Amino acid sequence: MKIFLIVLLCLLVFTGLCGATNPGVKVRVTKNGVNYANQVAHQKIVQQLQTLSIPDQSGKDGHISYTLTNIRVQGVTPPASSISLVPDKGGITWALSNFGIAIHADWRVKYKKAWIHISDSGSVDVSLSGVNLVETASFGIDKTGRPSIASSGCSDSIGGVDVHFHGGSAFILNLFRHTVENKIKDMLQPKICDEVVQVINNDAAKSLATMDVTVEIAKRFLLDYRLVAAPAITTDYFEILDKGEVFWEADVKESPFSPSPIPALADNSRMVYIWVTEYTPNTFFYQAQTHGYLKYNVTKDDLPDDQSSYLNTTCPFKCIGTIIPQIGKLYPNSTVELRLHSQALPKATASNKTLTAALSTIMDLYAHTPDRKVPFLATLNVNVSLTLKPSIKDEKLNAVISDHSFKLSVLKSAIGQLNPTLLNIVLGGVMDFVVIPKLNKIAAKGVQLPMVGGVQFNNTELILQEGNLLIGTDLQYKVDNTLRFKVEPYQIHTA
Ligand SMILES: *[C@@H]1O[C@H](CO)[C@@H](O)[C@H](O)[C@H]1NC(C)=O
Ligand SMILES: *[C@@H]1O[C@H](CO)[C@@H](O)[C@H](O)[C@H]1NC(C)=O
Ligand SMILES: *[C@@H]1O[C@H](CO)[C@@H](O)[C@H](O)[C@H]1NC(C)=O
Ligand SMILES: *[C@@H]1O[C@H](CO)[C@@H](O)[C@H](O)[C@H]1NC(C)=O
Ligand SMILES: *[C@@H]1O[C@H](CO)[C@@H](O)[C@H](O)[C@H]1NC(C)=O
Ligand SMILES: *[C@@H]1O[C@H](CO)[C@@H](O)[C@H](O)[C@H]1NC(C)=O
Repeated sequence: MKIFLIVLLCLLVFTGLCGATNPGVKVRVTKNGVNYANQVAHQKIVQQLQTLSIPDQSGKDGHISYTLTNIRVQGVTPPASSISLVPDKGGITWALSNFGIAIHADWRVKYKKAWIHISDSGSVDVSLSGVNLVETASFGIDKTGRPSIASSGCSDSIGGVDVHFHGGSAFILNLFRHTVENKIKDMLQPKICDEVVQVINNDAAKSLATMDVTVEIAKRFLLDYRLVAAPAITTDYFEILDKGEVFWEADVKESPFSPSPIPALADNSRMVYIWVTEYTPNTFFYQAQTHGYLKYNVTKDDLPDDQSSYLNTTCPFKCIGTIIPQIGKLYPNSTVELRLHSQALPKATASNKTLTAALSTIMDLYAHTPDRKVPFLATLNVNVSLTLKPSIKDEKLNAVISDHSFKLSVLKSAIGQLNPTLLNIVLGGVMDFVVIPKLNKIAAKGVQLPMVGGVQFNNTELILQEGNLLIGTDLQYKVDNTLRFKVEPYQIHTA
């Protein structure tokens, strides 16, 4: 029964998706988003038409050769534009209708047959009206995990062509203008789709095939935004399913876990939705942990100015040596260093209330004495739980630590029994003065989301859910840009 249901769902939803790997990150562009893209595209077309220039034309027809020079656009009727989602073609259809253009040009005609040479020139007004174009482009996935595009249907029509000759033997030419008009129509009509299909199959395909699909993080990691399946298209939206996995840049290998399915979302009111699942931070943690990245030595140099003596063993008021008197007594006039490293795979968890990260660390305490000795003091196990408040800034996902707690136990001590309450006080200070500010600085840098450049977020909402973070946003077109992330290209070699 369940199998039956799954098969049925596969048929109903999008066949390409079934059986595919779950994405770690998913981007949905809704109908509102598609309409906005259409608006932007339309504006661009109107803009480009305003500065349209047409190069000189020349051609040959039997014994007649002609040139058109000084072509000036006299008037343009920008086309109406609409983009729609076409699930059964796995793509989109772009319809442009009622485009018109009027040009004025100088013409020269030469007739040459045997000993007959005739040459004539003048000017001409040509106008096209009611030009319509419907192009469908289908999306897929190429073998590098990038989206692919191919034209899957094009049709066009020209409503009317109007030609008026001036000068020279214009009065004779005008007798044939209907023949010329039909000729232009017959010549142009197939050319329009030819050109459009070329642009889709060559230019657009090339720019998708060279699109950067990884983002470097902290100069060590790569966030992989390659697709795990072809874009999924329904009547309501267009979805891009990204791997969303973090790799160690110098040694790209898969993590041993996979993303959980992303629950359905019925709301399509924003232009774009982006899901970032726990999988993404957890693959980061996996790579960071296995490559020994998660370690840090806290020294007096890390302390803020107003707490500069916190790790001193001798001080008039509050420092580690006065909070834990035996340290102050054994090693006066010294400072303490805390060498931290993560001892187990950290875990990020998203629930409908909070986003948390749990770390289990080992902390070795050493003193730095005035005679340059570094005696070992103690080893602690400190488990830290961080609560993160995610936010969006400059189209990047970042976070601040809104809460933290820790639990410690003493594993080893070279300075006798250590009072846990006093250790908690010391560590609370180290967290507040050093660890949390440092982590906040890293978290504030943010991570680039899989969006094309040149758009700004507006009206953005962030929703925490079980297993993922959902970003819903409207877009606002910023600058001209190609389909590129602003990062260096990087070749992924899969294990
Ligand atoms: C911490 O200090 C020890 C001893 O000097 C050194 O071996 C280790 O590499 C340091 N760790 C980091 C993360 O700097
Ligand atoms: C803390 O220790 C450092 C280095 O030993 C020393 O320069 C500084 O004066 C000390 N601060 C206080 C308040 O004792
Ligand atoms: C610590 O430093 C102070 C001031 O420099 C000095 O008077 C004192 O003798 C030192 N204590 C030890 C144990 O070295
Ligand atoms: C959040 O999750 C808890 C437990 O999983 C559930 O009981 C609760 O209804 C959820 N709240 C919302 C607003 O979804
Ligand atoms: C920290 O976590 C580890 C592993 O999760 C556990 O074995 C250990 O008892 C915990 N330590 C403390 C102090 O809670
Ligand atoms: C941003 O969103 C607000 C609220 O929906 C809207 O009023 C405003 O026009 C939007 N700004 C742009 C530039 O689209």
